[in-house]
Amino acid sequence: MTVRTKIIAGNWKMNNGIAETGEFFTKLETWFGADEIGKKAAAAVRSGKIEIVVAPVLTSIATAVASAKKGCKDLVGISAQNAYFEKKGAFTGEVSLGMLEEAGCKYVILGHSERRHVFGESDELLQKKLAAALVSKLLPIFCVGELLSERESGKTNDVLKKQLNRAWLDTDGDLLAEKLAIAYEPVWAIGTGKTASSDDAQNACAFIRELIAETFGINAAEKIRILYGGSVKAENSAGILEQNDIDGLLIGGASVEAESFAKIITAAL
Ligand code: PGA
Repeated sequence: MTVRTKIIAGNWKMNNGIAETGEFFTKLETWFGADEIGKKAAAAVRSGKIEIVVAPVLTSIATAVASAKKGCKDLVGISAQNAYFEKKGAFTGEVSLGMLEEAGCKYVILGHSERRHVFGESDELLQKKLAAALVSKLLPIFCVGELLSERESGKTNDVLKKQLNRAWLDTDGDLLAEKLAIAYEPVWAIGTGKTASSDDAQNACAFIRELIAETFGINAAEKIRILYGGSVKAENSAGILEQNDIDGLLIGGASVEAESFAKIITAAL
């Protein structure tokens, strides 16, 4: 059985400016260096058991990259929360994958439910973004998930299938296997305090893995990491991480403060 490195990723959304980002990383540095559990976490990253990722706002990326490198000795990878698929040009307010790579990012979150539902990003647009990310140097964390009404009408799997089949249309299975992580984030669980039960989260993630296997074969299905996100906290993270098809967590609110983020990392050790 393939052992997949777990990803513990914090999506700060529009939180933590430059000063707060500096404070966050100073606390994490102390935790990694001086706390017994923090030292265990550092060892777990070094041995490839877990990957720790933080996705700051654009203006905090430079601080996060510098702090992650110096104080945190590369134990934390920095992610962007979004990117545009074009390389450059007249796209006011957007940023390209190459620019994010140049700024020191290693990952990029795409298709987050707030991008889909607050900013109206479509499956068609997200297909272009994923295709561009797969040939960039960044590792995409591609988010999918159903609305409450879709869950209640039994359409969860149909929605996941539609979002994923469109996103990976015309992509190469080997490239996906090498680079992609998927985050299953039921929209009704994001920022609401309502977590999917471990069983529901597992069922959706198992469905996604089967879909990968059917579409791209067993090798891709065994390699691609599938994360759960939606009201993850220290108290519920261990139960979710125990599930067979869940290879990590995408954490919003509980990742903004270093203390609570560290507690969730602890659950993955
Ligand atoms: P939440 O957000 O943990 O605050 O629910 C998760 C996410 O949006 O990725």
